[in-house]
Amino acid sequence: MAQLLDQLYLPVYLRTLLVNTIGSFNIYFKVKENKMVLYHSGGGQFTGEVRSKLLDNNVSIVYIKKEDKDHYTEYLEKNFARILSDPELESEKKAEIAHISVLNIAKELFKEPHAKTIALYKSSINTMMDFVLEDDEAINNLIRLTSYDFTTYTHSVNVGVFGIGLAKVLFAKDPQHDMKEIASGFFLHDLGKCKIPLDILNKRGMLTNDEWKIMKKHPDFGYILLGQFNALTEEAKVIVMQHHERNDGKGYPKGLKGDQIHTYSKVCCIADVFEALTAKRPYKQKQSAFEALKIMQKDMRENFDPYYFEQFIMLFSAQNLAPSDKRFVNTFTS
Ligand SMILES: [Fe+2]
Ligand SMILES: [Fe+2]
Repeated sequence: MAQLLDQLYLPVYLRTLLVNTIGSFNIYFKVKENKMVLYHSGGGQFTGEVRSKLLDNNVSIVYIKKEDKDHYTEYLEKNFARILSDPELESEKKAEIAHISVLNIAKELFKEPHAKTIALYKSSINTMMDFVLEDDEAINNLIRLTSYDFTTYTHSVNVGVFGIGLAKVLFAKDPQHDMKEIASGFFLHDLGKCKIPLDILNKRGMLTNDEWKIMKKHPDFGYILLGQFNALTEEAKVIVMQHHERNDGKGYPKGLKGDQIHTYSKVCCIADVFEALTAKRPYKQKQSAFEALKIMQKDMRENFDPYYFEQFIMLFSAQNLAPSDKRFVNTFTS
């Protein structure tokens, strides 16, 4: 019976349900291992009184029906900024909410970009960035949530998370850097892929030369699209244009090298390659973070700005993201 309940209901954190808001989902309360009762009906105001009663009884988790998951996600997106500013909500839970909200919008955006969806995406990234800048555990928790599939939107969000992790270390102390715009640049770096034919984008196995030529146009496509939507500052758009440029000049589309490449693009390049190596693809196994960094250091070192790459490795070792991989510092700094 308890198992049946697990199939029907989803646990949600009470702290994500804000006072004086209305959600279009019913809220249930688990009275016994095998019994749920309706506690609050969807469409009704979730008052302070309703919430206090639960808190007074030490309830931190309530339930919704699985079929209401989309309604709950919509609610989270709408109330995202307020939920994340709650000082009582743990960093881990904030990270989960930030991650799911940004991921959901990314999913819509990469199907067909519109000015409205880009604006919504940017505003959630801004909220996520506020959280990252003021909470030292945020990046750590967000990186733990990165998950891998074959989609451009998951890849984009993962690269965004790795990118802001490194950008925080490198730039956050200097107010000249507009951290939110930079973050949007990372999360949108592959927007141009929505203009690449799906049979090329999702092809299993190697691309032919002609297919590669088309694929290599995605930085330009993204740059043009963002220009049309007037969506990013020039500096942040450069991230989109230059994220495949390499420090040694062997990248694309222009073959820029060293200082010709914008610092923000150099950060995005590292995050992008790391994500591609750690992601599982139909044609390859995924690498652990440790293995990916090792490959990057051994075989791809010339691609990256050496100092930024070193800081990227430190990001993983210092935050102890992979407890089984304590070899990070010794291996990479010796
Ligand atoms: Fe790309
Ligand atoms: Fe990418």
